[in-house]
Amino acid sequence: MALRGLLRLGELRIRVLDMAQARKHYVDRMGLHEVMEDADGLVYLKAWDEHDHHSIVLRETDRAGLDYFAFKVYDDATLTALAPKIEAFGLAVKEVPAGVYPKSGRRLEFVLPSGHIMQLYAEKEVIGNTMGYHNPGVTPDEGVVRGFRINRLDHVLLGGLNIDECARLFTEVFDFDMSEKIVDAETKSSMAVFLTGSTKPHDVAFVMQPEGGRFHHVSFFLESANDVIKAADLIGKYRIPVDVSVNRHGVTRGMTIYFFDPSGNRNEVFAEGYVHYPDVPTIVWDTDDIGHAGFSQDNVMRPSFYEVLT
Ligand SMILES: [Fe+2]
Repeated sequence: MALRGLLRLGELRIRVLDMAQARKHYVDRMGLHEVMEDADGLVYLKAWDEHDHHSIVLRETDRAGLDYFAFKVYDDATLTALAPKIEAFGLAVKEVPAGVYPKSGRRLEFVLPSGHIMQLYAEKEVIGNTMGYHNPGVTPDEGVVRGFRINRLDHVLLGGLNIDECARLFTEVFDFDMSEKIVDAETKSSMAVFLTGSTKPHDVAFVMQPEGGRFHHVSFFLESANDVIKAADLIGKYRIPVDVSVNRHGVTRGMTIYFFDPSGNRNEVFAEGYVHYPDVPTIVWDTDDIGHAGFSQDNVMRPSFYEVLT
């Protein structure tokens, strides 16, 4: 596959209740790198092996959750070509000039049928992963990989209505594949859809919720299942609230831990999972096997999965 169009989940702006506590969690404990604080007090973070300036933005306010999520696209021409296609799908597209979002080129912004604000951008300042681009070696200097040893932002799971319409937008307009789907065993209606625009098992997923615009979790990629175990050690050491400790998802086959930031936003560390190719049919799970689909090592679907969102 020649990966063009939407490249990856490139940025999330997360609302936090207390910036000092959020910093301690995301920077001191998890090991993300703080690259900037802007004049409005927004804090910009990146994982070590990301090349762009930042991937996570924290904004302090009185309600936890997600302000927006953004995908990076291949180039500006891609952005120009996508705007009329998104409008033809039926969504109003707002053009945001370059510089409104720091270190970033112009953006397209629109509201998904699930109620989430999504953005697309083609340009963001590249600051690299500290190793350079000529004879870079294989590992950065001591101290660059730290905390939970997070390589990069991986995916986001969003809760809302109209998840089939969201899937249609991603598959028909953005050329994503539906890698997996969870359906109600009786009615066959969609309960969760998993969408990939790459060889990852998913880049974004939607879970059915009675209210739109909800944030289920942001997931960070670790290099190995062993790193997931080591992250679990630190989660325990620092008394970070755990939703589901080390397990393997049936969907995606990724190793996982779900835990919460101090504001109640769910985080995940994720490793392994299969390689997706666009010629592989969609994998369908139904609610008769929902425990295995969610957490394959103990086959228990936690009610919190459907009930705890920000
Ligand atoms: Fe996840």
